[in-house]
Amino acid sequence: MAAPTPKPVVILKPTKQVKGLFTIIRDKQTSREDFIFYSDRIIRLLVEEGLSCLPFSETTVTTPTGCTYNGVEFASKICGVSIVRAGESMEAGLRAVCKQIKIGKILIQRDEETAKPKLLYSKLPSDIATRHVLLLDPMLATGGTVAQAVSVLLERGVKEENIIFINLLAAPEGIKFFQDLYPQVTIVTGEIDSNLNEKKYIVPGIGDFGDRYFGTEH
Ligand code: PRP
Ligand code: URA
Repeated sequence: MAAPTPKPVVILKPTKQVKGLFTIIRDKQTSREDFIFYSDRIIRLLVEEGLSCLPFSETTVTTPTGCTYNGVEFASKICGVSIVRAGESMEAGLRAVCKQIKIGKILIQRDEETAKPKLLYSKLPSDIATRHVLLLDPMLATGGTVAQAVSVLLERGVKEENIIFINLLAAPEGIKFFQDLYPQVTIVTGEIDSNLNEKKYIVPGIGDFGDRYFGTEH
């Protein structure tokens, strides 16, 4: 049987403004303060893009002029899930646009030698199976980390097609690996880079996102 066609990857519209924001965060000379500020701006755009992928239903409202406006409203319950640690950097951007959103956590660390992910902890909303999930992690490199996170969500009863994975930067190898496993997950990304280097870092990339955002180094 032929493999199911994966959902198309949603990429932020490459306006000069978006390109300018990426230029700043990719620059190794950029200070931590600016890295955080400009990453947060990209994250806000990505979250808005991710919300656009959710189901909507039609509704009408009456405007102050007494006219009817045919509009739409969200048709599903949602929650966020961040992949700790770097994914936590995206929580504020999600909270800024979704009031009181529930946010679960999955702690997965990539082994620095082998680049293999290790699942260490998860804590998720009890009713997560009934929700669409906005899964947050800035980097999609080999795809191992997000694949493990999705397997945790599926075990908890989340439907694959109800997962929207939001990231800033993706490598083609990681997209392929992930979509071969989970073709029904929607990927929303900022830019797709050239490839992975021998250390499984994205190139040209931005380096280690978590270290630059949280001010740590290894
Ligand atoms: C980074 C990043 C992703 C993962 C991507 O996390 O935030 O979670 O690597 O790599 P992959 O697609 O090859 O799995 P890391 O494990 O370095 O931890 P951090 O969040 O503490 O930076
Ligand atoms: N994690 C990062 O932070 N950056 C990469 O390029 C790959 C994994």
